[in-house]
Amino acid sequence: MLVSAKDMLNKAKAGKYAVGQFNINNLEWTKAVLLTAQENNSPVILGVSEGAGKYMGGYKTIVGMVNGMLEELNITVPVALHLDHGSYEGAKKCIEAGFSSIMFDGSHYPIEENIEKTKELVSICNEKGLSLEAEVGSIGGEEDGVVGAGEVADPNECKMIADLGVTMLAAGIGNIHGKYPENWAGLSFDVLAKIQELTGTMPLVLHGGTGIPEDMIKKAISLGVSKINVNTECQLSFAAATRKYIEEGKDLQGKGFDPRKLLAPGFEAIKATVKEKMELFGSVNKA
Ligand code: G3H
Ligand code: ZN
Repeated sequence: MLVSAKDMLNKAKAGKYAVGQFNINNLEWTKAVLLTAQENNSPVILGVSEGAGKYMGGYKTIVGMVNGMLEELNITVPVALHLDHGSYEGAKKCIEAGFSSIMFDGSHYPIEENIEKTKELVSICNEKGLSLEAEVGSIGGEEDGVVGAGEVADPNECKMIADLGVTMLAAGIGNIHGKYPENWAGLSFDVLAKIQELTGTMPLVLHGGTGIPEDMIKKAISLGVSKINVNTECQLSFAAATRKYIEEGKDLQGKGFDPRKLLAPGFEAIKATVKEKMELFGSVNKA
């Protein structure tokens, strides 16, 4: 059964580790993430962007697929199905479709409007027992059509949003979606420390988890980050493994053209990436 992300993230914050959110794109992605979580006895959050939601046939299709896998693959670790960078309308659709967790990304609205819309969603999510993530400041770069200026969050605004009763808070602290540029200045730990001081026990979320050096990940966790989002890194490992299989001509041998064989190396590559992240974030054996 899908669960809200609330308990797993509160436990992570108290235990000083982070739960990974891994974005899914199709059946193979979903199965790879779920099996890796189960094998490592780790809680996990499946992230679905609005673009990936459309690609997979719609939110109800995704809920059906994930619930089917939880049952038939005997997944017993805590799993949340989470809308990633959702619009206000997308959030409402996912709530109706049966998602267990929602991110409302109101970071592009003026703070008053972000507060207004977040407040309304807090009351809907509370009533239904769903977790809700809000965003303040913005994440640089682009993810599935969501473009952010990379504006570092104002800690006072973070407190205002946290006080609305959201479950977890994403703050822009110099993090970027996709690959980090060579001249990246790194995460703003002083801002993160201030946000943590003002928001207390609230689990903080680090977006743009691809390519952040290990020491920065560990420092972010020590300053209250309890959820880390990873998307591009799984895509890169999937693409590299698939490319290798084809470039080595394996698709031309025997039944190598069978889609189940063509997708197998990418599937294994996603599993390896997810396992590596779970170990780094400290969520192994925390189910
Ligand atoms: O919302 C999802 C992410 O923040 C993932 O970022 O693609 O840089 O790993 P990433
Ligand atoms: Zn993100």
